[in-house]
Amino acid sequence: MQITIVALCLLFLQQIIANDRIVDTTVVLRKNLDLECIYHEEGVIIQFDWAKVVESSEEQLCSISRTYGKDITEKYKGRVRFLNEGSSSDASLRLTDTSDDDIGIYYCYITTFAKGTIKKIIDVRADDFGKITASSHRTFRNHETITLNFHCTLKAKVKQITVKKLSHGKMDTIAFCNDEIHTPRYGLNDIKHISLNCSSLCNVTLGIQNFTSKDEGLYICNFTTEKGNEATVVNVSNGE
Ligand SMILES: *[C@@H]1O[C@H](CO)[C@@H](O)[C@H](O)[C@H]1NC(C)=O
Ligand SMILES: *[C@@H]1O[C@H](CO)[C@@H](O)[C@H](O)[C@H]1NC(C)=O
Ligand SMILES: *[C@@H]1O[C@H](CO)[C@@H](O)[C@H](O)[C@H]1NC(C)=O
Ligand SMILES: *[C@@H]1O[C@H](CO)[C@@H](O)[C@H](O)[C@H]1NC(C)=O
Ligand SMILES: *[C@@H]1O[C@H](CO)[C@@H](O)[C@H](O)[C@H]1NC(C)=O
Repeated sequence: MQITIVALCLLFLQQIIANDRIVDTTVVLRKNLDLECIYHEEGVIIQFDWAKVVESSEEQLCSISRTYGKDITEKYKGRVRFLNEGSSSDASLRLTDTSDDDIGIYYCYITTFAKGTIKKIIDVRADDFGKITASSHRTFRNHETITLNFHCTLKAKVKQITVKKLSHGKMDTIAFCNDEIHTPRYGLNDIKHISLNCSSLCNVTLGIQNFTSKDEGLYICNFTTEKGNEATVVNVSNGE
């Protein structure tokens, strides 16, 4: 009885997560494509499953199971290489010899005990991000605690905001807020030391604890307002 309730709760949780997800990372297609999937939380990982969205269904690429080991689907044999074989929390892979058929949405399912299954969503796109220019530039020292402020300038009600980080050709979603829930939702990236205050959607503050060079990049805050979108971009670098 109890098990059924737990299972039902997990199922319910999974549905909330599944219906509510945002793209965690966007990368541009290249000949050898690295797709990152690392579990940054505590817990026991039971299985990783990689899938690609094909039309309205999912095509399995490969899985890494604690019990059954690695399995690569026939279609992808010879093209998938795991980037961190020795790690039990890293299922990042390299897809080699890619073609336009590899453009699209990928899911990395991480099944853990006792948090159930979470899904990382990666969008592989054909075009690069274009020229993104920063409106300001800030440098910080290692281990500093830093804050970045983003203001909207359009005189319109802000409906939602997303904060993303672009570095090394990879766009990671950091956080997302909207006018219904002022509690940020965070992407599934290595950002446990980053927090967003979006109690006012027109003036949000991003806090980064213990800044290191892996936090360098362009931070892009996108305001979606009733009168259109606007983005503010800050170039953050390590001044040491
Ligand atoms: C968020 O910022 C507001 C002011 O804009 C402040 O009153 C509030 O305490 C902050 N919340 C947190 C959790 O820091
Ligand atoms: C934005 O919020 C920060 C911190 O909450 C505050 O210090 C700052 O004055 C605010 N800026 C504007 C333009 O409201
Ligand atoms: C800051 O990060 C470094 C490197 O990741 C780590 O060695 C150090 O313990 C961290 N310091 C704090 C105060 O969290
Ligand atoms: C901002 O968000 C909107 C809606 O999600 C999107 O259409 C637009 O391309 C985004 N703009 C930037 C600069 O990311
Ligand atoms: C950001 O700053 C770094 C360090 O100063 C610089 O090398 C880089 O070109 C800048 N990027 C952009 C897009 O402005």
